Amino acid sequence: MIWVNFKIYKETFGDGALFLAEACYRAAQKSGIKIIPIVSPFDLVAIKEKFQKEVWLQHGDVFFEGAKTGWLSPLQAILKGADGFLLNHSEHKLPPGKISQVLAYLKRKSWQKKWEALVGKKLPWDKVATMVCFRSQGQARKWVRRLDADWIAYEPPELIGGDVSVSKAQPGVIQRIVSILPKKKIVVGAGIKNVEDVKMAVKLGAKGILVSSAVVKSSRPEKVLLQLAEGFLEK
Ligand code: G3P
Repeated sequence: MIWVNFKIYKETFGDGALFLAEACYRAAQKSGIKIIPIVSPFDLVAIKEKFQKEVWLQHGDVFFEGAKTGWLSPLQAILKGADGFLLNHSEHKLPPGKISQVLAYLKRKSWQKKWEALVGKKLPWDKVATMVCFRSQGQARKWVRRLDADWIAYEPPELIGGDVSVSKAQPGVIQRIVSILPKKKIVVGAGIKNVEDVKMAVKLGAKGILVSSAVVKSSRPEKVLLQLAEGFLEK
């Protein structure tokens, strides 16, 4: 699987986010590999309305409703069509306690019932996915193993947006993370640019990749995605 983090790159402004989302969905359809755009709240509704396909937000806060100025309510996002949340990206960190709290609010039946009562309607909880990012083997050992997230993503911050991918720079670390977290669905990201990076990540045990600049900043994002998708198809 491929997640494309749009961040707030200028390429996503205006109709850019729609153009990129279309590239994701078209490449997914052509390759048979699931590709999910992770977008800004400004673009989520337009993308959902136009394509009616899976789309995630880049963040979600611990506040779901109430007198909380400027926070990003996951409950409001779900009502607007968000299918998932990226949490604790190294560019938008949350303390571990807050991550667990957001996950509990999204995943525990008692909370789900509470939110449904609050908004007066049933919500598609089984379709709401979560991915928590982390940055080190230490974090993997300390708190990531206890998290109830659908996916966890290893991204070393120093490689984000750079020329060398996490798969090439840190194959040993990826392998150790896979062995520290045998029951988790692990995604890797940072510096991923080509099919070789993807193949290596998959060989090391990753179930997916998280990518941004190589796709968002390309003038031909669909083509880049089709090449990245090849990495999941080749044996
Ligand atoms: O969330 C994905 C991101 O941080 C990786 O960025 O530009 O290195 O693909 P990039």
